[in-house]
Amino acid sequence: MSKPLKIAVAGLGNVGVGVVKILETHKGLIAERAGREIVIKAVCARNHNADRGVDLSPYAWEANAANLADRDDVDIVVELIGGEHGIAYDTAKKTLSKAKSLVTANKALIAHHGAELADLAQKNDVALRYEAAVAGGIPIIKAIGEGLAANELSLVYGIMNGTTNYMLSQMEARGLTYDEILAETEALGYLEADPSLDLDGIDAAHKLAILSSVAFGTKTDFDNVYIEGIREIETVDIEYGKELGYRIKLLGITSFENGMLSQRVHPVMIDRKLPIAGVMDGFNAIVVDGDFIDRTFYQGRGAGEGPTASAVVADLIDIARGHSGPAFFKPASTLVKAKPVSINQRKGAYYVRLHVKDRAGVIADITAALKQSNVSVETMLQKGTEQDGTVYVVMVTHDTTEKAMKDALNRINELSSVIEKPLSIRIEKL
Ligand code: HSE
Repeated sequence: MSKPLKIAVAGLGNVGVGVVKILETHKGLIAERAGREIVIKAVCARNHNADRGVDLSPYAWEANAANLADRDDVDIVVELIGGEHGIAYDTAKKTLSKAKSLVTANKALIAHHGAELADLAQKNDVALRYEAAVAGGIPIIKAIGEGLAANELSLVYGIMNGTTNYMLSQMEARGLTYDEILAETEALGYLEADPSLDLDGIDAAHKLAILSSVAFGTKTDFDNVYIEGIREIETVDIEYGKELGYRIKLLGITSFENGMLSQRVHPVMIDRKLPIAGVMDGFNAIVVDGDFIDRTFYQGRGAGEGPTASAVVADLIDIARGHSGPAFFKPASTLVKAKPVSINQRKGAYYVRLHVKDRAGVIADITAALKQSNVSVETMLQKGTEQDGTVYVVMVTHDTTEKAMKDALNRINELSSVIEKPLSIRIEKL
């Protein structure tokens, strides 16, 4: 057996602890599969004294993660600190600059600095691996970069945030309001330290930006991901959606055609019969379309100690085996800067929910506003009047453009009978 692969772990939250546990539990099995042992030499976290439920005494302790890159007894730094800037970024750059490989679960880091770090890794002839950054336990980076490498890929979409999928699923299953499920999700500890990352779609957008690069060989371009979160979804939308044959999901969708890259994360209504519509609670799912494979579908746990740590250790095993190709599966210098497609270019149908005063002429006013914007309605639903004399009116439009829809919603919002900003959800035929 070859010499052991010596690693350092920076960040001892649940994923870091999970990595320590897997490397201990499956020591023999991993050594067999990797062809060499993988041993932890040093660890680092903010708080030295916290009880993490694992024995860290055999490992050297470093107070500063970036110092791990200086250690002669370390071949690979595993960065599990998180965050786009600061110590995570410094540690990543220093590790690669010192010609050591980097394994990370840090989606923000790769989404923002993927191309730069890939270049640095290549110049220093070391590996940069980040399987754990996208969809936790689903090996989607390897599936796309290796398993589907023979294909030209055209479309990747999926549920990339387990927390919001859990929230939407529970709103439907238990009829909870957004505020009720938010409080519960917070109490369960499912939300990111900055909840906006989950609720506003940013976490999913980080993952989507990474998948775009892996699938299409483009430079990571987080800044051009169009992002909307789930804060405006109410139970009534879920119920109306169901009646119309749809389920609401927060999807990330990326496609690449003729040098143009479309990247968007927003709630969608999709046919309830689609396999991805049945992926509930904390699960993630990704769909990848390619020219020779048609469609592939991957499902699994997108977060949590075990699934995320499993992906980190798989990357370590890969490097131990000597599989250390370019970070985005092609030379970093050949990653292309794609032209972004604006959300305004989207064409398709929309679900629209209006909260209006229940009085004569309201529907006529709404229809007139739609007509002026050239948006035509396929279905309109209105149910009983609330005690306060207001009513929800729900519509599904025929295919139209984002621009026309925005224009119509602005007109509708100005009507005196409309008492709440209209909500629209894009209907995707996937
Ligand atoms: N907040 C993320 C999620 C964690 O809910 O999917 C995993 O990246």
